Amino acid sequence: MSNATTSRVTITQLAAKKTAGEKWAMLTSYEQMSAAIFDQAGIPVLLVGDSAGNNFFGEENTIPVTVDELIPLARAVVNSSKTAMVVADFPFGSYESGAEQALATGIRFFKEAKVQAVKLEGGRKVVPQIKALINAGIPVMGHIGLTPQSVHALGGFKVQGRGADRTRVIDDAKALVEAGVFAIILELVPAELAKEITKMVSVPTIGIGAGVHCDAQVLVWTDLMGLTQNPPKLAKAYRNLRTEMSNAAKEWAKDVADGKFPTDEQSFKD
Ligand code: KIV
Repeated sequence: MSNATTSRVTITQLAAKKTAGEKWAMLTSYEQMSAAIFDQAGIPVLLVGDSAGNNFFGEENTIPVTVDELIPLARAVVNSSKTAMVVADFPFGSYESGAEQALATGIRFFKEAKVQAVKLEGGRKVVPQIKALINAGIPVMGHIGLTPQSVHALGGFKVQGRGADRTRVIDDAKALVEAGVFAIILELVPAELAKEITKMVSVPTIGIGAGVHCDAQVLVWTDLMGLTQNPPKLAKAYRNLRTEMSNAAKEWAKDVADGKFPTDEQSFKD
């Protein structure tokens, strides 16, 4: 008998959304507060991205973040959500050596963070890793186009799949589907190419900087909320929490300096 008190979004439900033509949204999350808020807001998939490297640990990019650093963040997101599927991102250095290394990383995220799926960057070259994970019962989300862990090899954060490069991205998408991924992130590719891949593949495509024709969209939550200082062009801030939080901190500090905080309301009697 299961002890589960909740039922989370499944890969089968995401597949059904594609069949029904129902678009959906995925957000990153790296800790308890945003996870609970987005879960209660009905966001069906939360990604504990390696973007925690820059958005949580303050690194310049995603490359330095490690499995040991991401596992507690993923566990916090799982513990604080009830219905969202939680996907853990494999950081750089945790799967490139081959299927055995990828499987060991997947097992750690499954057992120690209790996530429901994992994500890794790359196309044809990571097919053995994907197959090993799926054979072990670990659902895998693919990620092609601009793969930020390869930023130095790609010569910067550049749109992928333009001109003659188009077939490379298409071939990678085909290889991922054949390997058994349940969804594919398309990052920074021309909208028309994303449209073609979305029509071609049987699994949901999740766009970020890939136009409106993908089956789903993903954003880094700090970009969506206007917390990121220099957000990328592909993101849209729906709120300005950076200004809100800064103003609240200044207001409170001034009240402290002026002797206006705490008031009787926040104080206790004998
Ligand atoms: O790490 C991350 O946040 C990601 C998304 C931006 C797709 O990979």
